[in-house]
Amino acid sequence: MDPVPSARGQWGSRLGFVLAAAGSAVGLGNIWRFPYITGENGGGAFVLIYVACTALLGLAVMWTELAIGRATQRSPVSAFKALAPGSAWKLVGYLGIVTGAGILSYYGVVAGWTVGYLVHGITGELASGDPGELFGGFVGNWQLQVTFLAVFMGITMAVVIGGVRAGIERITRILMPALLLMLVGLIANGLMQPGAAAGLAFFLRPDFSQVTGMTFVHALGQAFFSLSLGMGAMLTYGSYLPRKESVATCGAWVVVCDMAIALMAGLMIFPMLGGKPETGGPGLVFVVLTQQFQAMPGGQIVAVLFFALLAVAALTSTVSLLEVVTSSLVDEWRLRRGAAAAGAALVITILGVPSALSLGSVGWLSEIGTIGGEPAGFLDLMNFVFGNLALAVGALLLCLFVALRWTAAAAVAEISDGAPWFRRLERPFKVAILALCPLAVIALLLYLVLTGRSLG
Ligand code: PHE
Repeated sequence: MDPVPSARGQWGSRLGFVLAAAGSAVGLGNIWRFPYITGENGGGAFVLIYVACTALLGLAVMWTELAIGRATQRSPVSAFKALAPGSAWKLVGYLGIVTGAGILSYYGVVAGWTVGYLVHGITGELASGDPGELFGGFVGNWQLQVTFLAVFMGITMAVVIGGVRAGIERITRILMPALLLMLVGLIANGLMQPGAAAGLAFFLRPDFSQVTGMTFVHALGQAFFSLSLGMGAMLTYGSYLPRKESVATCGAWVVVCDMAIALMAGLMIFPMLGGKPETGGPGLVFVVLTQQFQAMPGGQIVAVLFFALLAVAALTSTVSLLEVVTSSLVDEWRLRRGAAAAGAALVITILGVPSALSLGSVGWLSEIGTIGGEPAGFLDLMNFVFGNLALAVGALLLCLFVALRWTAAAAVAEISDGAPWFRRLERPFKVAILALCPLAVIALLLYLVLTGRSLG
């Protein structure tokens, strides 16, 4: 291996790392996507399957990604080059960069909605009017869409330019506790709403008659997306772990935090909705919740808090997506960090414009394709290709890399370094990473390719 570039950053402490990595994991996936996927897949039974997928499969992949990062102290492409010199495995790293850029381009658009709604919440524009029309008018206004995308990407870029410790770690240390506080406050408020009991019942009481093969596929896809797995984000964050930190312990904390926040998001949203959501889909929190905010006492404050929460969660995730691209440009192409982050942010923002225009403002972009037989806009297609397909391919290749090249023994050695307790999990870990994960992800890929349906 070449010597590790000395200018690479490192996390200042274990807590700093766990908060940053949990910040990447906790995002729109937990607070915006998890509730509507749960709503569409029958509630409590889906939640149980999602928890099982996260604990049995997601955790193993999390450990593996972090281990590759910490072992090599490099960003994805360089990491695969270091562990498998002269082979094609480096393509997995390149796929990660492309996937990161692809996801960020449309994720940034939805992240922009959170800022737009935050602003509208503060100015009082959400307080009256039909929430469906408000949402349609907002996403159909191209000036607003492009502006908020650019604003969000600008903030993301500023954090990434700040560096690993002074940028990412510093803001996540403030934002993650703030997120938790807002979430707890909003849960308390939700539990006082008239429909709270019905909402909790839908979220927590498993109804197994609703479970089909599709429930598993959606739960698996949700687990991987929510944990930021399959594109090198955790690999990159793991590469800033000092050798003395334990991958096993840190990785377990990140998974626990992500799962806890998703479950808390459910506890916040379903009591406010008062049961099974009438409409699912991406509009759930923007349309249906806005309606609830209009009806509840103190609703304007609750709305502002809620959209601030969503914006904070999104920011710590967009930062990690941009960091993957930036760190690769720095490690592989020896660019300066500032130039790399600014250049990447600019290109990705431009890439995001068609997504921003595909929500009604430009007709042909809004119905450019079909997914599962339904007309789909550019943003939907980007989500299908990068958020569903590419992440699954990335996760599968990662498992295959362990099986065919790196070896499970090497992975175990790296993960258990500094965490002797992990040795007891050696067997189940190997079964998960060599058999369960690849098989489950192949099933997921087959579903995506054969049905052509999106996971949402
Ligand atoms: N995990 C993030 C979320 O739940 C999304 C994400 C996916 C971030 C992949 C980075 C990489 O919103």
